[in-house]
Amino acid sequence: MYEYELPNACLKLLRDMFKLQPGETIAITTDTVSNQEIVEATAAAAVSLGAIPLVLKIAAPAGGKAGDKDMPMEALIGALKGCDAWVEYNTKLIFYSTVYDKVMEDPENRPRYMNQNGVHPELLIRNIGKVDNILLNKFIMAMTEATKNATHMRVTAPNGMDIEFDNEPGREYLVADGFVRKGEIKMFPGQIAWAPRFETINGTITVDGTLSPPLGAVKSPVTFTIKNGDIVKIEGGLDAMEFEAWLKAFNDPQMFKVAHLAYGFGPNAKLSGDIVEDERVWGCTEWGFGNVGGCLVSDIPGEVGIPGASHSDGICLNCSVWLDGVQILDKGVVVGPTPEIVQLARKLGK
Ligand SMILES: [Fe+2]
Repeated sequence: MYEYELPNACLKLLRDMFKLQPGETIAITTDTVSNQEIVEATAAAAVSLGAIPLVLKIAAPAGGKAGDKDMPMEALIGALKGCDAWVEYNTKLIFYSTVYDKVMEDPENRPRYMNQNGVHPELLIRNIGKVDNILLNKFIMAMTEATKNATHMRVTAPNGMDIEFDNEPGREYLVADGFVRKGEIKMFPGQIAWAPRFETINGTITVDGTLSPPLGAVKSPVTFTIKNGDIVKIEGGLDAMEFEAWLKAFNDPQMFKVAHLAYGFGPNAKLSGDIVEDERVWGCTEWGFGNVGGCLVSDIPGEVGIPGASHSDGICLNCSVWLDGVQILDKGVVVGPTPEIVQLARKLGK
């Protein structure tokens, strides 16, 4: 499917976003439950740019650190560390595994990376092939600066969600602005993620989009009551019960802690059941629980992030957001903080 459109999207990814150069090596990782057409098309795009692709396909592990035991760890670490660039298409994540931590531990000597977990041709074409990435870059950089400058934030949603927290000054943001420069770790374009000051997070998070892993699209909203960054109550229907049982099974207190939040700003993203696209639906916020990636808490010395047995993300749709009392999102529509940012959003068709 999409055999005419896919090469263009893959070329745009490697040429315009990775700026892949002739002679550079790029690792393309995948697993046995992922789309292979996209892997082949990406390798072909690399060759057409004069670069050297290396495709690494593994049996699908459990996600995150729980999957360590299933991976050819030393072989993967060696191969990935030796490449100039790495695009991860794995559905069962290498991201957040020990392999990932080891590959990324030295910012001066690591492949530049884009996370594309579970991406398939239609998703890549819709969200990269058909997006003005220069304009999106401008919008995302401006919104990141505005958020970094805020101390106190509040996020609400029509489903009753209402949560407040403080940002940690100086903490790095994971900004998926569409471009991957030397040494950078980037998520799929259309997202701004960060870790607030954990102990200041209080209120309710109501997930009404996707909760993954392990659930996918929720059948009814799942409400988390958060006290000082910890989940103290999970309410809702069967999905809530199933998710709480899943968290408890890890027997790891970190699984009951908020790990990050993120804005979704993918102009063409739609709720499709794929977490990588769902978490970019324009005007959503996504909340992560469990393991905290090192790039989100680089200010905490001595450790690679905050280790947790696994990691899950929940999507809350149509959010309203305030930065120090100034509203920037109204039920998913950009309304501030400056007329320039609002205009950029309108130019992106939002
Ligand atoms: Fe996450």
